[in-house]
Amino acid sequence: MASLNLVFGVILYSYMIVNGWIYGMATGLSMNYYVMTCPTADIIIRNAVQTALQSDPTLAAALVRMHFHDCFVQGCDGSVLIDSTKSNTAEKDSPANLSLRGYEIIDAAKQELERQCPGFVSCADILAMAARDAVFLASGPFYEIPKGRRDGTRSKIEDTIDLPPPTLNSSQLITIFGNRGFTAQDMVALSGAHTLGVARCSSFKFRLDAADPTIETTFAKTLSNTCATGDDAEQPFDSTRNIFDSGYFSELQRRAGVLFSDQTLFESAATRGLVNKYAFNRALFNMDFQRAMLKMGQLDVKEGSEGEIRSNCHIIN
Ligand code: HEM
Ligand SMILES: *[C@@H]1O[C@H](CO)[C@@H](O)[C@H](O)[C@H]1NC(C)=O
Ligand SMILES: *[C@@H]1O[C@H](CO)[C@@H](O)[C@H](O)[C@H]1NC(C)=O
Repeated sequence: MASLNLVFGVILYSYMIVNGWIYGMATGLSMNYYVMTCPTADIIIRNAVQTALQSDPTLAAALVRMHFHDCFVQGCDGSVLIDSTKSNTAEKDSPANLSLRGYEIIDAAKQELERQCPGFVSCADILAMAARDAVFLASGPFYEIPKGRRDGTRSKIEDTIDLPPPTLNSSQLITIFGNRGFTAQDMVALSGAHTLGVARCSSFKFRLDAADPTIETTFAKTLSNTCATGDDAEQPFDSTRNIFDSGYFSELQRRAGVLFSDQTLFESAATRGLVNKYAFNRALFNMDFQRAMLKMGQLDVKEGSEGEIRSNCHIIN
């Protein structure tokens, strides 16, 4: 009897994990959402991301950032993918889009998905799954995410005001992320996405002009040298721009954070402890990052009968 209870307990527990109850999942989403309608969805998306990263590993950063920009503006509804039209300037044409890339990866996956299971897999889900795969393929953690997001039908340049600018300090970041339901810990872990990729001079040159005292002197020269090439010159966030590791946090510890909004996390007592923990313990960072991404991926999602399944990610049906 006891062993039967145990078996039942284990089955129930696994079921709960599969359904994401343990993570407090949005009601219309589930881990196995496409099991019946598009069982190859995971493989198709993984292949598209893998193929792209093989020829350009810097695209991992692009996918993770695009998912963030999608979720923070009008929720994770694929609105970042929509093209502007004559009568509507879309999110992607905002200056805040600065260097968003990787749209062709989403398109490649979508095209194959429409061939194998037409009309079932949303662009918002493709982006969420592609970002997840990008993290894993860049040597980061693998985590399952719930699916079932529906695509939004609004994409307006003015909504990108919801994206945090790199001029914010730690307390402002805590407030902004707090307003969207994230703890300070979530926010610092999510900022750790900057273990991938680069920033352009235009995103940090104000620090040089203002002689920001929180930049280590040699690193200030590095940033100046980068900017000497122009506003679009790229500065990697850490020395391993295509590897998902703790390097970003170690850079903050030695005052070699690229963005003001990065370095502030170490300068402020409210977040410094987290930076130190993540710099020291990559596994802990991975764990908290996964949890925070799971939360971010469910920000204001459209479920059930809301929204649509776009047939072309660039265009509202
Ligand atoms: C905490 C607030 C955040 C601010 C102020 C911020 C700001 C920025 C800025 C200014 C850039 C450089 C853009 C450029 O110059 O080209 C950037 C790049 C990037 N951001 Fe953030 N970000 C934040 C949070 C996040 C989050 C939550 C994620 C994802 C979970 C993320 C992922 C990325 C990635 C991967 C890049 C590199 C993109 C590439 O190399 O193509 N960021 N971010
Ligand atoms: C981003 O916005 C600018 C205008 O601010 C536009 O010229 C550019 O094409 C957009 N980039 C992408 C990748 O859509
Ligand atoms: C952050 O910036 C705000 C607004 O400029 C300011 O009031 C606050 O004191 C700053 N906080 C820290 C910790 O520097």
